[in-house]
Amino acid sequence: MRRCFQLAEQGRGIVSPNPLVGCVLTLGERIIGEGYHHEYGSHHAEVNAVNSVQDPSLLSQATAYVNLEPCAHHGKTPPCADMLIKHQVQRVVISNRDPFDEVDGKGIERLKAAGIQVTVGVLEDEGLWLNRDFFTHHTKQRPFIQLKWAQTSDGFFDKSRLTNELGSTWITAPSTRKLVHAMRGDADAILVGIKTVLIDNPELTVRDVAGKNPLRVVIDLNNAIAEGHRILNDEAPTLIINGSKSITQGSNEWLQVSPNQVFEDLMNALHERKVQRLMVEGGAFTIQRFLMNELWDEAMVLEGNKTFGAGMKAPSIPQKAAQVYMYGQDRIYQYRRS
Ligand SMILES: NC(=O)c1ccc[n+]([C@@H]2O[C@H](COP(=O)([O-])OP(=O)(O)OC[C@H]3O[C@@H](n4cnc5c(N)ncnc54)[C@H](OP(=O)(O)O)[C@@H]3O)[C@@H](O)[C@H]2O)c1
Repeated sequence: MRRCFQLAEQGRGIVSPNPLVGCVLTLGERIIGEGYHHEYGSHHAEVNAVNSVQDPSLLSQATAYVNLEPCAHHGKTPPCADMLIKHQVQRVVISNRDPFDEVDGKGIERLKAAGIQVTVGVLEDEGLWLNRDFFTHHTKQRPFIQLKWAQTSDGFFDKSRLTNELGSTWITAPSTRKLVHAMRGDADAILVGIKTVLIDNPELTVRDVAGKNPLRVVIDLNNAIAEGHRILNDEAPTLIINGSKSITQGSNEWLQVSPNQVFEDLMNALHERKVQRLMVEGGAFTIQRFLMNELWDEAMVLEGNKTFGAGMKAPSIPQKAAQVYMYGQDRIYQYRRS
């Protein structure tokens, strides 16, 4: 099953809104085939695994390991449960049942009805974490929310600024910034508050690493964003959450929300757009709002060696233990909400 997870992981940042799935076919102690889901709309992992087997006559004695329940519906491809039944595999071992309405146990039932031995729940928690974006989308009707910020070793988020002083302040090393771009590539959307747009004027695209640009989202209830801000360039689509208009101009969409239910409207809008992972990049006010509303699943705090002595205090996550990693000269604190 861990090999299935390794294979599945290769689709991260590519297959969304589909889940990450890997499949391994064994005969006794020997792996006779393996595959994973490569691209949204293309073959599922089970099909790629079966196609990789050199001698298909062995399939009727094989065990199929797959991290997610084989599908039972005609989506962009035919049902994988039927394909495994057609090849008469002996046993199917599954990590997680698929919560997607059109599957949700039907694949398992179909395999069992065909006389195939089925085991479900192998390394279940690891499987849930692998597909955290997909499971959060289907079970909570909102994206998996990853908060990310940089702070100095004395706990500041930004230096003290003179009135109207613009431009971003770097806190972490260049290698850590590259990691942030890789994290962006794994997200379906990146969100910031309007002050970050006005002060830093970020582009919020994936650079320095390979990866697709996520949807850019800004909370700007009073429409302070202006032509010329980089977030409105055509490098990626942008969603401007605002209090007065719903219009689309080129790749930029303004969506009117109710000021007293910003998060509710935002979560619905992201769910409708099949955003399964949202990365919240700042600023401190915006991150604090997500924390206060308990709308987060993971927080990645990147701590540089610099000190500011004074400035904007970084958000804090009370009563939570973090995993701590060194990344070059910076430290990364990873908090998981549950
Ligand atoms: N260290 C880092 O990782 C990092 C990352 C990003 C930015 N920064 C720095 O952070 C600073 C900006 O941070 P900030 O805390 O001042 O501002 P911010 O979080 O970027 O923007 C705050 C504004 O966004 C709007 N907003 C956000 N969430 C909202 C919600 N739930 N409901 C209603 N409105 C919401 C409000 O706009 P209105 O005022 O219009 O209502 C609010 O005043 C900049 O100096 C930037 O350089 C640092």
